[in-house]
Amino acid sequence: MSGTIADVSSTGGPSRLLGIGAYRPHRSVPNAEIVDAIDSTDEWIRSRSGITSRRFAGPDETIAMMSLAASRQALDDAGVAAADLDCVIVATISHLLQTPAVATAIAAELGATPAAAFDVSAACAGFCYGIAMAADMVRAGTARHVLVIGVEKLSEITDPTDRSTAFIFADGAGAAVVGPADEPGIGPVVWGSEGERFDFIRQDAYWPVDGFGAADDDPENSKPAHTLRMEGNPVFRWASFEMPKVAMRALEAAGVTVAELDAFVPHQANMRITDTMARQLKLPDHVAIARDIAEQGNTSSASVPLALRRLIDEGETRSGDLALLIGFGAGLAYAAQVVRVP
Ligand code: UT7
Repeated sequence: MSGTIADVSSTGGPSRLLGIGAYRPHRSVPNAEIVDAIDSTDEWIRSRSGITSRRFAGPDETIAMMSLAASRQALDDAGVAAADLDCVIVATISHLLQTPAVATAIAAELGATPAAAFDVSAACAGFCYGIAMAADMVRAGTARHVLVIGVEKLSEITDPTDRSTAFIFADGAGAAVVGPADEPGIGPVVWGSEGERFDFIRQDAYWPVDGFGAADDDPENSKPAHTLRMEGNPVFRWASFEMPKVAMRALEAAGVTVAELDAFVPHQANMRITDTMARQLKLPDHVAIARDIAEQGNTSSASVPLALRRLIDEGETRSGDLALLIGFGAGLAYAAQVVRVP
Protein backbone atom coordinates (compact mmCIF):
# COMPACT_ATOMS: atom_id res chain seq x y z
CA MET A 1 0.00 0.00 0.00
CA SER A 2 1.33 3.44 -0.85
CA GLY A 3 0.06 7.02 -0.60
CA THR A 4 -2.87 8.41 1.34
CA ILE A 5 -6.29 9.74 0.34
CA ALA A 6 -7.11 13.26 1.55
CA ASP A 7 -10.38 13.60 3.45
CA VAL A 8 -12.68 16.31 2.05
CA SER A 9 -14.33 16.80 5.43
CA SER A 10 -11.66 19.25 6.55
CA THR A 11 -12.98 21.78 4.00
CA GLY A 12 -16.70 21.58 4.83
CA GLY A 13 -18.82 23.15 7.54
CA PRO A 14 -22.37 24.07 8.51
CA SER A 15 -24.91 24.74 5.79
CA ARG A 16 -28.18 26.62 5.38
CA LEU A 17 -30.78 27.57 2.81
CA LEU A 18 -29.57 30.77 1.17
CA GLY A 19 -32.52 31.43 -1.15
CA ILE A 20 -35.88 30.08 -2.30
CA GLY A 21 -37.63 30.44 -5.65
CA ALA A 22 -40.95 29.31 -7.12
CA TYR A 23 -42.70 29.04 -10.46
CA ARG A 24 -46.47 28.67 -10.70
CA PRO A 25 -47.95 27.87 -14.12
CA HIS A 26 -50.21 30.58 -15.57
CA ARG A 27 -53.36 28.51 -15.89
CA SER A 28 -55.47 28.23 -12.77
CA VAL A 29 -58.04 25.43 -13.02
CA PRO A 30 -61.03 25.65 -10.68
CA ASN A 31 -62.77 22.54 -9.37
CA ALA A 32 -65.67 23.27 -11.73
CA GLU A 33 -63.44 22.28 -14.66
CA ILE A 34 -62.52 18.94 -13.09
CA VAL A 35 -65.76 17.64 -11.60
CA ASP A 36 -67.71 16.40 -14.62
CA ALA A 37 -65.13 13.83 -15.70
CA ILE A 38 -65.00 12.29 -12.21
CA ASP A 39 -68.65 12.61 -11.17
CA SER A 40 -67.69 14.86 -8.26
CA THR A 41 -68.60 18.28 -6.90
CA ASP A 42 -66.75 21.43 -5.92
CA GLU A 43 -68.06 20.95 -2.39
CA TRP A 44 -66.73 17.35 -2.14
CA ILE A 45 -63.26 18.33 -3.37
CA ARG A 46 -63.05 21.36 -1.05
CA SER A 47 -64.20 19.45 2.02
CA ARG A 48 -62.12 16.29 1.37
CA SER A 49 -58.89 17.92 0.20
CA GLY A 50 -59.04 21.70 0.80
CA ILE A 51 -58.38 22.31 -2.90
CA THR A 52 -60.36 25.08 -4.62
CA SER A 53 -58.20 25.37 -7.73
CA ARG A 54 -54.89 24.09 -9.03
CA ARG A 55 -52.28 25.16 -11.59
CA PHE A 56 -51.85 23.19 -14.83
CA ALA A 57 -48.85 23.93 -17.04
CA GLY A 58 -49.29 24.77 -20.72
CA PRO A 59 -47.22 23.21 -23.54
CA ASP A 60 -44.48 25.85 -23.19
CA GLU A 61 -44.30 25.41 -19.42
CA THR A 62 -42.01 22.39 -19.49
CA ILE A 63 -40.15 20.76 -16.60
CA ALA A 64 -36.97 22.59 -17.68
CA MET A 65 -38.69 25.95 -18.22
CA MET A 66 -40.43 25.88 -14.82
CA SER A 67 -37.21 24.73 -13.12
CA LEU A 68 -35.19 27.54 -14.68
CA ALA A 69 -37.68 30.19 -13.57
CA ALA A 70 -37.76 28.91 -9.99
CA SER A 71 -33.97 28.49 -9.93
CA ARG A 72 -33.27 32.04 -11.15
CA GLN A 73 -35.44 33.42 -8.36
CA ALA A 74 -33.68 31.19 -5.81
CA LEU A 75 -30.24 32.29 -7.03
CA ASP A 76 -31.27 35.97 -6.93
CA ASP A 77 -32.71 35.50 -3.46
CA ALA A 78 -29.47 33.84 -2.34
CA GLY A 79 -27.19 36.38 -4.04
CA VAL A 80 -25.30 33.44 -5.57
CA ALA A 81 -24.18 33.34 -9.21
CA ALA A 82 -25.06 30.24 -11.24
CA ALA A 83 -21.35 29.88 -12.03
CA ASP A 84 -20.74 29.31 -8.31
CA LEU A 85 -22.97 26.23 -8.16
CA ASP A 86 -21.09 22.96 -7.66
CA CYS A 87 -24.10 20.68 -7.93
CA VAL A 88 -27.66 20.75 -9.27
CA ILE A 89 -30.18 18.21 -7.90
CA VAL A 90 -33.61 17.89 -9.51
CA ALA A 91 -36.32 16.01 -7.61
CA THR A 92 -39.08 14.95 -9.99
CA ILE A 93 -41.25 12.02 -11.06
CA SER A 94 -42.69 13.64 -14.17
CA HIS A 95 -39.70 14.28 -16.41
CA LEU A 96 -40.66 11.64 -18.94
CA LEU A 97 -37.26 11.26 -20.55
CA GLN A 98 -35.49 8.70 -18.37
CA THR A 99 -32.01 9.70 -19.42
CA PRO A 100 -30.08 11.97 -19.38
CA ALA A 101 -31.04 13.66 -16.14
CA VAL A 102 -32.90 16.93 -16.75
CA ALA A 103 -30.61 18.44 -14.08
CA THR A 104 -27.75 18.47 -16.61
CA ALA A 105 -29.75 20.57 -19.10
CA ILE A 106 -30.88 22.93 -16.35
CA ALA A 107 -27.30 23.37 -15.09
CA ALA A 108 -26.12 24.19 -18.60
CA GLU A 109 -28.99 26.61 -19.30
CA LEU A 110 -28.33 28.42 -16.02
CA GLY A 111 -24.62 28.73 -16.80
CA ALA A 112 -23.58 26.42 -13.97
CA THR A 113 -21.45 24.09 -16.14
CA PRO A 114 -19.50 22.02 -15.10
CA ALA A 115 -21.56 21.57 -11.91
CA ALA A 116 -22.41 17.97 -11.03
CA ALA A 117 -26.06 17.36 -11.94
CA PHE A 118 -28.50 14.50 -11.34
CA ASP A 119 -32.18 13.71 -10.79
CA VAL A 120 -33.77 12.14 -7.71
CA SER A 121 -36.91 10.01 -7.74
CA ALA A 122 -38.44 10.16 -4.27
CA ALA A 123 -41.81 11.62 -5.27
CA CYS A 124 -43.33 13.94 -2.68
CA ALA A 125 -40.30 13.43 -0.40
CA GLY A 126 -37.90 14.35 -3.21
CA PHE A 127 -37.23 17.97 -2.30
CA CYS A 128 -36.50 17.12 1.34
CA TYR A 129 -34.26 14.24 0.17
CA GLY A 130 -32.41 16.76 -2.01
CA ILE A 131 -31.98 19.26 0.83
CA ALA A 132 -30.59 16.48 3.04
CA MET A 133 -28.03 15.49 0.40
CA ALA A 134 -27.11 19.12 -0.32
CA ALA A 135 -26.57 19.83 3.39
CA ASP A 136 -24.33 16.76 3.68
CA MET A 137 -22.34 17.80 0.62
CA VAL A 138 -21.68 21.26 2.04
CA ARG A 139 -20.88 19.80 5.47
CA ALA A 140 -18.42 17.36 3.97
CA GLY A 141 -16.84 19.84 1.59
CA THR A 142 -17.98 17.93 -1.51
CA ALA A 143 -19.73 21.07 -2.74
CA ARG A 144 -19.96 24.69 -1.61
CA HIS A 145 -23.20 25.72 -3.28
CA VAL A 146 -25.94 23.26 -4.28
CA LEU A 147 -29.16 24.05 -6.15
CA VAL A 148 -32.07 21.77 -5.19
CA ILE A 149 -35.13 21.86 -7.45
CA GLY A 150 -38.51 20.19 -6.94
CA VAL A 151 -40.53 20.22 -10.16
CA GLU A 152 -43.56 18.38 -11.53
CA LYS A 153 -45.87 18.38 -14.51
CA LEU A 154 -48.26 15.83 -13.03
CA SER A 155 -51.15 16.93 -15.27
CA GLU A 156 -49.34 15.07 -18.06
CA ILE A 157 -49.42 11.77 -16.19
CA THR A 158 -52.77 12.07 -14.45
CA ASP A 159 -55.91 10.42 -15.78
CA PRO A 160 -58.58 13.15 -15.84
CA THR A 161 -61.25 10.48 -15.29
CA ASP A 162 -59.62 8.92 -12.19
CA ARG A 163 -61.64 9.97 -9.15
CA SER A 164 -58.83 9.55 -6.64
CA THR A 165 -56.13 11.56 -8.43
CA ALA A 166 -57.64 13.91 -11.05
CA PHE A 167 -58.56 16.65 -8.57
CA ILE A 168 -55.39 16.41 -6.48
CA PHE A 169 -52.31 16.50 -8.69
CA ALA A 170 -50.95 19.67 -10.29
CA ASP A 171 -47.89 21.37 -11.75
CA GLY A 172 -45.17 23.78 -10.64
CA ALA A 173 -41.57 24.19 -9.54
CA GLY A 174 -39.68 25.32 -6.46
CA ALA A 175 -35.94 25.67 -5.88
CA ALA A 176 -33.52 26.35 -3.05
CA VAL A 177 -29.85 27.25 -2.90
CA VAL A 178 -27.95 25.51 -0.12
CA GLY A 179 -24.58 26.90 0.88
CA PRO A 180 -22.12 27.49 3.72
CA ALA A 181 -23.18 29.10 7.01
CA ASP A 182 -21.57 30.22 10.26
CA GLU A 183 -23.80 27.89 12.26
CA PRO A 184 -26.06 24.96 11.30
CA GLY A 185 -29.15 26.10 9.40
CA ILE A 186 -30.31 22.66 8.26
CA GLY A 187 -31.01 20.09 10.96
CA PRO A 188 -30.35 16.36 10.66
CA VAL A 189 -32.74 14.65 8.26
CA VAL A 190 -35.08 11.93 9.49
CA TRP A 191 -35.85 9.91 6.41
CA GLY A 192 -36.88 6.47 5.30
CA SER A 193 -39.10 4.38 3.07
CA GLU A 194 -41.73 1.68 3.43
CA GLY A 195 -41.52 -0.37 0.27
CA GLU A 196 -44.14 -2.81 1.60
CA ARG A 197 -46.52 -0.08 0.48
CA PHE A 198 -44.88 0.25 -2.95
CA ASP A 199 -48.22 -0.15 -4.72
CA PHE A 200 -50.09 2.59 -2.85
CA ILE A 201 -49.07 5.33 -5.29
CA ARG A 202 -47.54 4.32 -8.59
CA GLN A 203 -47.62 4.53 -12.36
CA ASP A 204 -50.04 2.00 -13.78
CA ALA A 205 -47.35 0.54 -16.10
CA TYR A 206 -43.77 0.96 -17.22
CA TRP A 207 -43.53 3.85 -19.69
CA PRO A 208 -42.43 1.73 -22.67
CA VAL A 209 -45.23 -0.90 -22.51
CA ASP A 210 -47.34 0.66 -25.24
CA GLY A 211 -45.92 4.10 -25.73
CA PHE A 212 -43.81 6.63 -23.95
CA GLY A 213 -46.36 8.53 -21.97
CA ALA A 214 -47.78 11.88 -22.91
CA ALA A 215 -45.55 12.32 -25.96
CA ASP A 216 -47.24 9.39 -27.70
CA ASP A 217 -50.80 10.12 -26.65
CA ASP A 218 -53.58 9.28 -29.00
CA PRO A 219 -55.18 12.69 -29.67
CA GLU A 220 -58.57 10.95 -29.78
CA ASN A 221 -58.08 9.83 -26.22
CA SER A 222 -57.76 12.42 -23.46
CA LYS A 223 -55.92 9.95 -21.20
CA PRO A 224 -52.13 9.80 -21.21
CA ALA A 225 -50.67 6.40 -22.09
CA HIS A 226 -49.70 5.75 -18.46
CA THR A 227 -50.92 7.53 -15.40
CA LEU A 228 -50.51 7.69 -11.65
CA ARG A 229 -52.78 5.55 -9.47
CA MET A 230 -53.26 6.01 -5.75
CA GLU A 231 -54.90 4.06 -2.94
CA GLY A 232 -56.07 7.36 -1.50
CA ASN A 233 -57.49 6.35 1.84
CA PRO A 234 -54.64 4.09 3.07
CA VAL A 235 -52.14 6.78 2.06
CA PHE A 236 -54.27 9.36 3.85
CA ARG A 237 -54.24 7.32 7.08
CA TRP A 238 -50.52 6.54 6.83
CA ALA A 239 -49.65 10.21 6.26
CA SER A 240 -51.96 11.51 9.00
CA PHE A 241 -50.76 9.18 11.73
CA GLU A 242 -47.21 8.06 10.86
CA MET A 243 -45.81 11.35 9.53
CA PRO A 244 -46.33 13.36 12.74
CA LYS A 245 -44.01 10.84 14.44
CA VAL A 246 -41.37 11.46 11.77
CA ALA A 247 -41.84 15.23 12.14
CA MET A 248 -41.41 14.93 15.91
CA ARG A 249 -38.19 12.95 15.45
CA ALA A 250 -36.85 15.67 13.12
CA LEU A 251 -37.53 18.29 15.81
CA GLU A 252 -35.76 16.16 18.40
CA ALA A 253 -32.81 15.54 16.07
CA ALA A 254 -32.46 19.31 15.58
CA GLY A 255 -32.87 20.02 19.31
CA VAL A 256 -35.83 22.32 18.57
CA THR A 257 -39.10 22.29 20.53
CA VAL A 258 -42.53 22.96 19.00
CA ALA A 259 -42.61 26.17 21.07
CA GLU A 260 -39.44 27.36 19.31
CA LEU A 261 -40.82 26.59 15.86
CA ASP A 262 -42.04 29.49 13.68
CA ALA A 263 -43.37 27.67 10.63
CA PHE A 264 -44.62 24.24 9.59
CA VAL A 265 -44.26 23.39 5.90
CA PRO A 266 -45.57 19.89 5.20
CA HIS A 267 -45.92 18.39 1.73
CA GLN A 268 -49.18 19.80 0.37
CA ALA A 269 -50.96 16.45 -0.01
CA ASN A 270 -54.35 17.25 1.45
CA MET A 271 -55.45 20.07 3.78
CA ARG A 272 -56.96 17.49 6.16
CA ILE A 273 -53.59 15.73 6.46
CA THR A 274 -51.95 19.08 7.27
CA ASP A 275 -54.61 19.79 9.92
CA THR A 276 -54.26 16.34 11.49
CA MET A 277 -50.47 16.62 11.60
CA ALA A 278 -50.65 20.09 13.18
CA ARG A 279 -53.04 18.76 15.84
CA GLN A 280 -50.89 15.73 16.59
CA LEU A 281 -47.76 17.87 16.83
CA LYS A 282 -49.67 20.22 19.17
CA LEU A 283 -48.35 23.22 17.25
CA PRO A 284 -48.80 26.46 19.20
CA ASP A 285 -50.92 29.20 17.60
CA HIS A 286 -47.88 31.29 16.69
CA VAL A 287 -46.62 28.64 14.24
CA ALA A 288 -47.44 29.60 10.64
CA ILE A 289 -48.84 26.61 8.76
CA ALA A 290 -48.37 26.32 4.99
CA ARG A 291 -51.68 25.92 3.17
CA ASP A 292 -50.53 26.43 -0.39
CA ILE A 293 -52.56 23.43 -1.61
CA ALA A 294 -55.81 25.44 -1.66
CA GLU A 295 -54.93 27.25 -4.89
CA GLN A 296 -52.00 25.22 -6.12
CA GLY A 297 -53.02 21.56 -5.74
CA ASN A 298 -50.61 18.76 -4.85
CA THR A 299 -47.38 19.22 -6.81
CA SER A 300 -45.45 16.31 -5.27
CA SER A 301 -41.75 17.23 -5.08
CA ALA A 302 -42.44 20.93 -5.82
CA SER A 303 -44.93 21.42 -3.02
CA VAL A 304 -42.61 22.12 -0.06
CA PRO A 305 -40.55 24.91 -1.73
CA LEU A 306 -43.68 26.40 -3.33
CA ALA A 307 -45.40 26.45 0.06
CA LEU A 308 -42.36 27.92 1.84
CA ARG A 309 -42.02 30.64 -0.82
CA ARG A 310 -45.68 31.59 -0.33
CA LEU A 311 -45.29 31.83 3.48
CA ILE A 312 -42.32 34.17 2.98
CA ASP A 313 -44.10 36.26 0.31
CA GLU A 314 -47.18 36.64 2.48
CA GLY A 315 -45.11 37.73 5.48
CA GLU A 316 -46.14 34.68 7.53
CA THR A 317 -42.51 33.73 8.12
CA ARG A 318 -39.29 35.71 7.99
CA SER A 319 -35.60 35.21 7.39
CA GLY A 320 -34.00 33.45 10.36
CA ASP A 321 -37.21 31.73 11.48
CA LEU A 322 -37.18 28.01 12.27
CA ALA A 323 -39.31 25.96 9.88
CA LEU A 324 -40.12 22.25 10.00
CA LEU A 325 -40.23 20.68 6.51
CA ILE A 326 -41.65 17.23 5.78
CA GLY A 327 -42.21 15.42 2.50
CA PHE A 328 -43.99 12.07 2.11
CA GLY A 329 -45.52 10.05 -0.69
CA ALA A 330 -44.92 7.34 -3.30
CA GLY A 331 -42.56 4.62 -2.21
CA LEU A 332 -43.73 5.19 0.40
CA ALA A 333 -40.80 7.52 1.04
CA TYR A 334 -40.51 10.34 3.56
CA ALA A 335 -38.02 12.93 4.86
CA ALA A 336 -38.19 15.73 7.42
CA GLN A 337 -35.76 18.37 8.68
CA VAL A 338 -35.78 21.67 10.55
CA VAL A 339 -34.33 24.59 8.58
CA ARG A 340 -33.72 28.28 9.07
CA VAL A 341 -35.79 30.31 6.63
CA PRO A 342 -33.44 32.08 4.18
O1 UT7 B 1 -48.95 13.33 -2.52
C1 UT7 B 1 -48.73 11.99 -2.25
C2 UT7 B 1 -49.43 11.55 -1.05
N1 UT7 B 1 -50.83 11.63 -1.29
C3 UT7 B 1 -51.66 11.85 -0.30
O2 UT7 B 1 -51.21 11.99 0.81
C4 UT7 B 1 -53.14 11.82 -0.58
C5 UT7 B 1 -53.81 10.96 0.45
N2 UT7 B 1 -55.22 10.70 0.22
C6 UT7 B 1 -56.18 11.65 0.21
O3 UT7 B 1 -55.89 12.83 0.25
C7 UT7 B 1 -57.62 11.20 0.27
O4 UT7 B 1 -57.64 9.80 0.43
C8 UT7 B 1 -58.48 11.59 -0.96
C9 UT7 B 1 -58.70 13.09 -0.96
C10 UT7 B 1 -57.80 11.14 -2.24
C11 UT7 B 1 -59.85 10.92 -0.86
O5 UT7 B 1 -60.47 11.27 0.35
P1 UT7 B 1 -61.04 10.14 1.34
O6 UT7 B 1 -61.66 10.84 2.45
O7 UT7 B 1 -59.92 9.19 1.64
O8 UT7 B 1 -62.16 9.45 0.42
P2 UT7 B 1 -62.41 7.91 0.15
O9 UT7 B 1 -61.51 7.43 -0.93
O10 UT7 B 1 -62.41 7.15 1.45
O11 UT7 B 1 -63.89 7.93 -0.39
C12 UT7 B 1 -64.98 8.38 0.44
C13 UT7 B 1 -66.24 8.43 -0.39
C14 UT7 B 1 -66.55 7.16 -1.15
O12 UT7 B 1 -67.96 7.04 -1.20
P3 UT7 B 1 -68.76 6.10 -0.17
O13 UT7 B 1 -68.20 4.73 -0.35
O14 UT7 B 1 -68.48 6.68 1.20
O15 UT7 B 1 -70.17 6.27 -0.59
C15 UT7 B 1 -66.01 7.43 -2.54
O16 UT7 B 1 -66.70 6.68 -3.53
O17 UT7 B 1 -66.09 9.46 -1.40
C16 UT7 B 1 -66.30 8.89 -2.70
N3 UT7 B 1 -65.38 9.53 -3.62
C17 UT7 B 1 -65.66 10.65 -4.31
N4 UT7 B 1 -66.78 11.39 -4.38
C18 UT7 B 1 -66.74 12.49 -5.17
C19 UT7 B 1 -64.09 9.17 -3.90
N5 UT7 B 1 -63.55 10.05 -4.75
C20 UT7 B 1 -64.49 10.95 -5.03
C21 UT7 B 1 -64.51 12.13 -5.83
N6 UT7 B 1 -65.65 12.85 -5.86
N7 UT7 B 1 -63.43 12.52 -6.53
